[in-house]
Amino acid sequence: MQTTELGRTGTEVSSLCLGTMYFGSRVDESGSFSLMDRYVDAGGRFIDTANNYAFWIGDFTGNESETTIGKWLRERGNRDDIFLATKCGVRPVPGGRDGEFEGLSRRAIRGAIEGSLDRLGTDRIDLYYMHVDWRREALEETLGAFAELVDEGLVKHIGCSNMATWRVVVARELARRNGWPQFTAIQQWYSYLRPRYNADLWVQKFVDEELLDYIETERDLTILGYTATLGGLYRWNSIYEKNHPALGDRFHSEDNERRFAVLKEIAAARGVSPFQIVFAWMRRHDAPVIPVLGVTSLEQLNDNLASLDVSLTDDEYTKLRDAAFNRHGFDSDEEYSLF
Ligand SMILES: NC(=O)c1ccc[n+]([C@@H]2O[C@H](COP(=O)([O-])OP(=O)(O)OC[C@H]3O[C@@H](n4cnc5c(N)ncnc54)[C@H](OP(=O)(O)O)[C@@H]3O)[C@@H](O)[C@H]2O)c1
Repeated sequence: MQTTELGRTGTEVSSLCLGTMYFGSRVDESGSFSLMDRYVDAGGRFIDTANNYAFWIGDFTGNESETTIGKWLRERGNRDDIFLATKCGVRPVPGGRDGEFEGLSRRAIRGAIEGSLDRLGTDRIDLYYMHVDWRREALEETLGAFAELVDEGLVKHIGCSNMATWRVVVARELARRNGWPQFTAIQQWYSYLRPRYNADLWVQKFVDEELLDYIETERDLTILGYTATLGGLYRWNSIYEKNHPALGDRFHSEDNERRFAVLKEIAAARGVSPFQIVFAWMRRHDAPVIPVLGVTSLEQLNDNLASLDVSLTDDEYTKLRDAAFNRHGFDSDEEYSLF
């Protein structure tokens, strides 16, 4: 599989990362093992999880994904071949109130890493992310705790997720002043369609022009784009046809109708799936972007892996870029002009 440099670390990672959010929950153990085996057979080495997947489903606790990966690594004996990423900060507090999470204090991080290493059956994490930017603990505390983990050899690289660009800049300046390790990766929501103007994304952050501009300029951070297929939205005939329940109407806009139509047209002309065009689009930017795949079947995985063979022509890229009313996800020219 093609590789991409992680930030400016000199470390090459797979250009498609395998997400495992539903491994051990919606996808049972044997299905999860088959997906990881297939990804590795295709040359993939970059696996993404978190210490809370997927606590929000039924009676699951949030241990399932890491535990399933840990068992697979043990059975396959391939820990050294895999670049393993996990995250902390959004694990529910046992017995806590609804919506009460561990957070990103030093104490919470020390507890979180211990749990992740244990479930994954490893002595180190290759890339450790703060899962969201809660803003309730000072960044100094979180970054200082991450620096300790790197010093102790428990973590190789650090990253952030769901963080506004200006906060990334603040964090990097703090790290510089304190001699702490810098983020090498930022994991945000990213796809070809865009959330409608003012959509409520809760603590999640979507890749925007500002982040792309920042990273294209600095060139020392890699973007990991999650929920890239919008829960498989691109398989339907219209953005309104059968939306993923978690998306609600946040991607309903005339802007996206136009983008969707152009995407489908280009996919049909090439005879490939629209998913492959979405991944090819993400990887075509000047900023380095690695899509994080979310799949529940081998068919989906094979489809998405095949996107590595698709490289968009300048004409296709321009058509995709200019398909919408404007560059900001407004619903219409009228709404744009009011802004
Ligand atoms: N940092 C964060 O805050 C954050 C948040 C969310 C996710 N993530 C990471 O990103 C990964 C992916 O996220 P996600 O699951 O939300 O991604 P997603 O790509 O938006 O959704 C995955 C779902 O889309 C459908 N799909 C994907 N490829 C398809 C294809 N080729 N053909 C037809 N349907 C297809 C499948 O739906 P069905 O199963 O319904 O068939 C699949 O389960 C996660 O595993 C996790 O590692 C990170």
